[in-house]
Amino acid sequence: MLSATGSLQRCFQAILLLALTVFLLAIFLNVDIRLLMSFLGDKAEGPPITNVMFLKTHKTASSTVLNILFRFAETHNLSVALPVGSQFHLGYPWLFLARYVEGVEPSGPKRHFNIMCNHLRFNLPEVQKVMPKDTFYFTILRNPVFQLESSFVYYKHHAPAFRGVASLEAFLASPWTYYNQSLGLSNVYARNNMWFDLGFDNNAPAEEGYVRASLAAMEQRFQLVIIAEHFDESMVLLRRLLRWRLDDVVSFSLNFRSQRSVTSLTPEGRERAQRWCALDWRLYQHFNRTFWAKVHAELGPQRLRAEVELLQVRRHELEALCLQDGGPKNQLQITDRILRPYQSGKADILGYNLRPGLDNQTLQMCRRMVMPELQYVAHLYTLQFPENPPKKIPFLE
Ligand SMILES: *[C@@H]1O[C@H](CO)[C@@H](O)[C@H](O)[C@H]1NC(C)=O
Ligand SMILES: *[C@@H]1O[C@H](CO)[C@@H](O)[C@H](O)[C@H]1NC(C)=O
Ligand SMILES: *[C@@H]1O[C@H](CO)[C@@H](O)[C@H](O)[C@H]1NC(C)=O
Ligand SMILES: *[C@@H]1O[C@H](CO)[C@@H](O)[C@H](O)[C@H]1NC(C)=O
Repeated sequence: MLSATGSLQRCFQAILLLALTVFLLAIFLNVDIRLLMSFLGDKAEGPPITNVMFLKTHKTASSTVLNILFRFAETHNLSVALPVGSQFHLGYPWLFLARYVEGVEPSGPKRHFNIMCNHLRFNLPEVQKVMPKDTFYFTILRNPVFQLESSFVYYKHHAPAFRGVASLEAFLASPWTYYNQSLGLSNVYARNNMWFDLGFDNNAPAEEGYVRASLAAMEQRFQLVIIAEHFDESMVLLRRLLRWRLDDVVSFSLNFRSQRSVTSLTPEGRERAQRWCALDWRLYQHFNRTFWAKVHAELGPQRLRAEVELLQVRRHELEALCLQDGGPKNQLQITDRILRPYQSGKADILGYNLRPGLDNQTLQMCRRMVMPELQYVAHLYTLQFPENPPKKIPFLE
């Protein structure tokens, strides 16, 4: 009797000591207890959000986001609003219409999809015809100076405004010499391209009232606007709002250039780019502000740092697991044709080789992470519409 009480007491003391040690250790290691708890119980309130519309802007790291959404759709057996027939985008640069989506008959029964993320020019009423009411809308923006620089290299042979000029610096020194506004759609890559993708007029004067009204309309519709320059912070915030798992938002950079095809502008060129793309500049400034406000409201600096670190550690793990030599390759080095990215303009677009000898399940997971955009569109199309002829990828034919 006596010894039983004694051992109970000892046991109690031991537990108390252990709790105290953990507590002191936590303080010593400067660990936020709430953070610790949140990782232990990584269950956010409610199930993951599965109805998502991503407005894919051009030259903004959006292909990497597309890969994240495609992977989520494929592994969760969700339906994707894919381009009709042999197309690879949803009618861009024309304003989006519901009938650009495979399986949507204008006079047929209503059909809704879970995920929509291929290139399109935003047109809300038509998007609403194919996306459910509770859809989460988000998009990505990039500093317009760098966006334009990337666009110039990528669309060098495509946009008439860029064709006849040797450098972006020269273009910006006298844009009206090269940019013909009445050529309309073929020149959209050359001025305020993000503003255009959002469904607005990229040649409108940047008047205060017009800009404010357009930004307010965007605020109304998009629950989140992420920022390419802060990609990891963006993924942390996206994951939190969608209530997804960490691995769902871990990605490798896709459709990006080798350093060789990146040029930087002079300070004067940058200022000219800001003036030339004044609408995009206002757009970016505004949403860069709201992005950080949202990050601080949702996470706070300490938790943000911890979650970004978690994301980066996991990315490094997956790079080491999946990728040959742990990093990107230029297209001539990529042995599996299906993993070669589409090349455009003067850009040298990189891709990946997978590490040989992966077990089947890991291989499937890694392949999804490095699958270039066009190949992934074609792959999902075949899964979703096995009875239709498969999409042909012209540069692989
Ligand atoms: C995926 O969805 C299709 C149709 O929506 C269904 O027939 C199939 O059983 C689902 N598969 C899994 C693994 O959930
Ligand atoms: C711009 O394009 C229009 C339509 O093709 C053409 O008529 C006009 O001459 C062009 N303007 C200049 C300055 O090249
Ligand atoms: C975006 O916001 C961050 C944080 O406030 C700031 O440091 C950065 O300079 C902003 N970027 C631009 C291009 O204004
Ligand atoms: C590997 O997995 C795929 C897809 O799950 C399956 O179709 C294939 O038969 C598997 N291959 C082997 C060798 O197990």
